[in-house]
Amino acid sequence: MIGIFDSGIGGLSVFREVYRMLPEESYIYFADSAHCPYGEKSREYVIGRAREITEFLIKEGADIITVACNTATAAAIATLREEYSDPLKHETARRVLEMSGGARDHVKFIGMEPAVKPAAEMTRTGVIGVLATAGTLSGMKYRTSREMFAKGIKVVEHVGSGFVELVEQGITEGKKAEDTVEKSIRPLLDAGADVIVLGCTHYPFLMGTIRKIAGPHVRIIDPAPAVARHLMEVMSGDGLLPKTATDPAGRQDVNGIPDVKLYSSGNPRTLEEAFNKLIRN
Ligand code: DGL
Repeated sequence: MIGIFDSGIGGLSVFREVYRMLPEESYIYFADSAHCPYGEKSREYVIGRAREITEFLIKEGADIITVACNTATAAAIATLREEYSDPLKHETARRVLEMSGGARDHVKFIGMEPAVKPAAEMTRTGVIGVLATAGTLSGMKYRTSREMFAKGIKVVEHVGSGFVELVEQGITEGKKAEDTVEKSIRPLLDAGADVIVLGCTHYPFLMGTIRKIAGPHVRIIDPAPAVARHLMEVMSGDGLLPKTATDPAGRQDVNGIPDVKLYSSGNPRTLEEAFNKLIRN
């Protein structure tokens, strides 16, 4: 079973891509909406939430966990890997075995990747824009990939102010959404960015509005498909996938109904509504 979590419903944009590639898998999704947004919270706080959710997911039967949140990846993935991924550490193996009722002695984590590399390869103006939370932009992972992959490229960063709140309220288009999006992407456009990276999993829900404001000449990158491909490779390497999963010809028709358990620390109706809307689109 694949576990997926986010500070809220944003990680559903990652679930959507993973499910497209692995429709026969079972999923468990946890939206930490009662503690959303993570973007402005301390690193310690986010690590605490990530630990708690990880333990819940392991107890519920997750074999592998996707941290479908850039902010939680930046703050917590190293700690999570250290504490739950190494079966050679006696304490880890013991705890994970206990949590999983003897089913497994470790779990692996897949995190979000800030898509600076593809953006740097795509730009013609030599300027790329990155929209993310403050936590992601100040994190080591993002700063390292910017240094490695954006040499000679101007990177303009901006927090998508108010984006997460809009998405959590189910507002993805219309005047309010447009005004909010405009404020954060205008500086990127004015600086000449022709590629914009969506560095927060909530932001793809605003894709229509972002495209409308950015115009047809600006490429928008959602890193979710690349993360889904990486998850699939890791699962395949670990023998966690049936053969049919990596061979599209052998896939069975699953009637478009995902096998997924949805949990929220906030209002479960919000999560269900977002999920149904996502699956219908
Ligand atoms: N969806 C999250 C991310 O990818 C977090 C947004 C937030 O809670 O601030 O960063």
